[in-house]
Amino acid sequence: MNLTTQYLGMKLRNPLIASASPLTGTLDNIRRLEDYGAAAVVLPSIFEEQIEREEELLDALMTSGVDSFGEALTYLPASAAYSHSTSRYTDIVNAAAKAVDIPIIASLNGITSHGWIDYARQLEMAGASALELNIYFIPSDPALSGRDVEMRYLEILKSVKATVRIPVAVKIGPYFSAPSHMAMQLDQAGADGLVLFNRFYQPDIDLEKLALNFELKLSSPYEMRLSLLWIGILAGQIKASLAATSGVDSGDDVIKYLLAGANVVMTTSALLKHGLPYVRTILDQLETWLDARGLDSPDHIRGRMSQRAIPDPASYQRANYIKTLQSYPKS
Ligand SMILES: Cc1cc2nc3c(=O)[nH]c(=O)nc-3n(C[C@H](O)[C@H](O)[C@H](O)COP(=O)(O)O)c2cc1C
Repeated sequence: MNLTTQYLGMKLRNPLIASASPLTGTLDNIRRLEDYGAAAVVLPSIFEEQIEREEELLDALMTSGVDSFGEALTYLPASAAYSHSTSRYTDIVNAAAKAVDIPIIASLNGITSHGWIDYARQLEMAGASALELNIYFIPSDPALSGRDVEMRYLEILKSVKATVRIPVAVKIGPYFSAPSHMAMQLDQAGADGLVLFNRFYQPDIDLEKLALNFELKLSSPYEMRLSLLWIGILAGQIKASLAATSGVDSGDDVIKYLLAGANVVMTTSALLKHGLPYVRTILDQLETWLDARGLDSPDHIRGRMSQRAIPDPASYQRANYIKTLQSYPKS
């Protein structure tokens, strides 16, 4: 069986990647993920807010007449937990890149194209094989138009692309009025890959405390349908690689994403639920499925159920909606 897969111009040993989460934030876990078969690891994000905060603190120190930078750091208030985070993050990238043979993808998370983006260069120098740029922007300002929002994404991507030479994937949400057009624009702006989709974590309301509640629920396989739909529509239409994220809980889910046209499939919730060795289980399930059909590579199935490949492309559009409504059993 040859599971090798191309993603962001890199040759991976298979199509399964551990997506960004605290699980991928320690060297020990990254080594174990490699041992269990993960093809690459996306580190947890470093946030624009962290980078900017650190820069502000350093600026304040440099302008307050402190002689030595080393000394100055000792004056940082204890609450400034973020103050060393960028160097720590770069250290992890560096150590991980040395410790394992699989690609280490660093994750930059932000919503502006300001100075924080220079930090991308440090990640490249530290040994990141690629960057995943997570743009998690909630356009709450009624004055912002859809076009304004799209331009923001494109500007951030262009700024990062102008800063590094390593490939850059963009992790986006599904909430654009024209997701295909947005994907095409990102493709044309130089995105090497699109990661579909960011899960948006909407707050709940705690009725006792009358406060917003930010509890994180892990995903369920049903949630993969949105990514599956858009990967199925985009497959074969853009140059950028397609990475699926959301809802993978078994090898079957990976197979569905590959059939829709994903180059690679990412997983987090399943590993949080079942543990890191579950990477091997998912890969075994994928191999068993392919083997049972006499197939020796995921290339034989990639995109076979995409909109462009199926005899009835309308099933990916309104027909899907109507058929779905009609499929509900009559009482
Ligand atoms: C606890 C937790 C932390 C996460 N942290 C990040 C992060 O730092 N950056 C990011 O891009 N995605 C982050 N994610 C999102 C995952 O990478 C993934 O896209 C999402 O969970 C959907 O995939 P899944 O259904 O396999 O969990 C996180 C998810 C979880 C559950």
